[in-house]
Formats: sequence, C-alpha cells, structure tokens
Amino acid sequence: MMTLILLAMSTLPFVRSLDNGLGLTPAMGYNTWNDLGKKLNEQTLRTRADAMVDSGLRDAGYIYFNLDDGWQSSERNATTQRLHANPELFPSGMPALVSYVHSKGLLFGIYTDRGSLTCAKKPGSLGFEKIDAQTYAEWGVDYVKEDNCNAPNGPNDRDTALAEFGLFRDALNATGRAIYFSVCGGGDELPWSNITWFAKPPFGKNLANSWRIAPDCVEWLTTVRALSMVQGLERYSGPGGWNDPDMLLVSTTTATRKLSEAQSRAQFSLWSILSAPLLIGGPIASLSAWDLETYLNKEVIAIDQDPLAEQGALLVDGVYGRRLYDGSIAVVFVNENHPLSTTLTCGADCWSKTPFSPSTVLSVYDLWTHGPANVSTITVPEPYSVSLPARGHSAMFKFSIQ
Ligand code: GLA
Repeated sequence: MMTLILLAMSTLPFVRSLDNGLGLTPAMGYNTWNDLGKKLNEQTLRTRADAMVDSGLRDAGYIYFNLDDGWQSSERNATTQRLHANPELFPSGMPALVSYVHSKGLLFGIYTDRGSLTCAKKPGSLGFEKIDAQTYAEWGVDYVKEDNCNAPNGPNDRDTALAEFGLFRDALNATGRAIYFSVCGGGDELPWSNITWFAKPPFGKNLANSWRIAPDCVEWLTTVRALSMVQGLERYSGPGGWNDPDMLLVSTTTATRKLSEAQSRAQFSLWSILSAPLLIGGPIASLSAWDLETYLNKEVIAIDQDPLAEQGALLVDGVYGRRLYDGSIAVVFVNENHPLSTTLTCGADCWSKTPFSPSTVLSVYDLWTHGPANVSTITVPEPYSVSLPARGHSAMFKFSIQ
C-alpha cells in the first residue's frame, strides 16, 4: 500500500514556487536602463545613489537601486566561471558598489538574462544559474531582474522559458538570501508582441515577484500599449507577485529617454492604479522640479502601495479606477490618443463598476492639487466630467463616501 502511495506521489507534477516572502507591495526604486543605458560606471552610480537620499526619494519609499544591462565583463572568469563587473567601468568591483548602496540605506538590484547572452550581448545565465545566483547572494544583492534575450528556441517557447526562469528562481531560493525576482519577458520582443502569458499560471506568482506583461515603454505610444495589455490581468496580481507594465519614464529635458511632463505624470498616476512596480529611469541628481513633484506625491504612492492590493482597471473609455482599503476609490481620467482636447466622463456605466450604489454622496479630492476638486461633491450616478488638453494629459481624484 505504502509503495503504491509513494509511486502515486512520485508521478504527481511537482510545482515549485517562489518562497522569498518579498514583494508584499509593488517594488519602488531606481533602474539604470531608461537613464544611462549601457553607459554605466561606478562614479555615476554612486552619485545617483547619493541623490536617491538627498532628493527624499529613498524616504518616500524608493528603496531599490537597480543596475540593468551593461555592468558585466565580456567574459566569465575562465577558472571559476563566475561573472564579474567590467573592470574599466567598475574598478572597485561590484561588491564595493553593493556596500556603498547599502550604506545609503538602499537595496541593490542587478540584471541578467536566461539566454546565452543578455540583450546587450553580455554573458547570459544559461547553464550558469546556480553559480550566478550564488555570486549575487555573496555580493549582497537584494533584487535580480532576469531578461528573455538570446534564449534557446527564441523568446516565446513557453516550456523552455518556464524551465529556465524556474532554474534561476530555484537557484535564488537555494541561496537562502531573500532576493526579489523580477522576470522580464520583454527581451527580444517587438513593441506589439503579446507577452501577457507571463502573468498566468504556471508563470506569474509561481515564478517571480513581478513579471513584465508588455515590451519596453520607450515613448507615449508604447506606454499606452502597456496600459492596454495589463487590462484583464487583474486577478494575477497581488501581494508577492505583480504585473509589470515596465519602468517609469521621466520628463526632465536632459534625460535620455523621456515623455512630456503631462505624459510622465499620467504614467505615474496610471501605474499607481495598476499596482505596478515604480522604478524611476532618469538622472536622479538633476531631476526637474516637475518630476520630483510627481515621484514624491505621497498620496499617489500610497494608492500604488494600498493594502487592499487590488489592481485597478478600465471603467469606461479613458477612465481607470481602483478600490482602496479605506472604502474610497482612486480614478484617473487620461487623454490617451486624442491630438486635441477631449472631455471624459464617468457616468452611470462607469459608476456601476464601482462599489458605490445610487444616491451615495461622494466627496472628490484632487490628488495633484491636494485639495477638493472643482466639482467637490457628486451623487452617484451623476456624471462626473473632466476636460483634458492634448494626448497624455490626465487628472486624478479620490472619491470617498461623505
Ligand atoms: C530589454 C528589457 C529592458 C532592458 C534591456 C537591457 O529590452 O526589456 O527593460 O533590460 O533589455 O538590454
């Protein structure tokens, strides 16, 4: 009998999972990619880490300091097979930078790829998952992003993707260090590719603390596309694992990759409705006053991190909302595509998708002017309209029962 039970158990599919206890709220921090691309070096990064503290961003919750692609040497160490930082860019070595970042009260993130090479053609982790996870753990790394470039059988062979990302997850688990695991299916994908399958079992929470559901956001069009791709994936997101529509784009004029001021603020407002990771990609030491005001808006950050942890969704055209722990809702009105001004309305159809029943009187708080909105109360299902200038402008409110 016992033999039969053991036999039966051994044929059951053994589902492994991530067990690091991290990502209870969406990650917040800085990532180098939209800011510096491959032009990394230790001095610039130290200055960026200093600025995370001096700007108040760290104290507002942006605690991850993440290096993206481009930090690696072109070859592994021939004897140990270990990865190491490019010595020209990081003469003090990576452990020294990790210590510096930690000394600033920040957590340290690093980047790798499940293929033979990363997207920037540096050595990938294929076949070296255990060695790389161990190396990162020894360096004191707190966050690993693993990309999907140069993978055997291409980026969309799901069985191989699951097996290889799974190897890295298991290797991280085995280090005994709590390391946030971010899976980036973006990799080689074209802007219009659909990678929403990363959210669904057996991927999603089983695999990682967050997973990209859209290719890279590089300007407004791809940002709006990521926003549309995350719709319908609400149920896969929650404490421990989050849908990731990609990193934030600043509007500071000297930034490499950017949006307009209005668009950048709209992205931040929308990402908070989506419980998305908030990873800033700009020159932290010289962010414009506008960008700092955007990213330091504690009320919007609190919506992203809300303890109800319920990813919001499209209510009606151009209107996105989410329920909050305190019984209120947060709503963003956004002119996604109209080249001129447009008026967006939350009417009966929109209210029917909120928890509020007819005749409920709501107060309306403007999350960007930090006070009552122009129309400061409303009785459901009275229409609530907002006029917005050209593409990328938005407004954000909290509706609460009076
Ligand atoms: C891919 C990812 C980006 C970034 C680059 C680095 O494009 O989607 O987020 O990591 O690779 O090469």
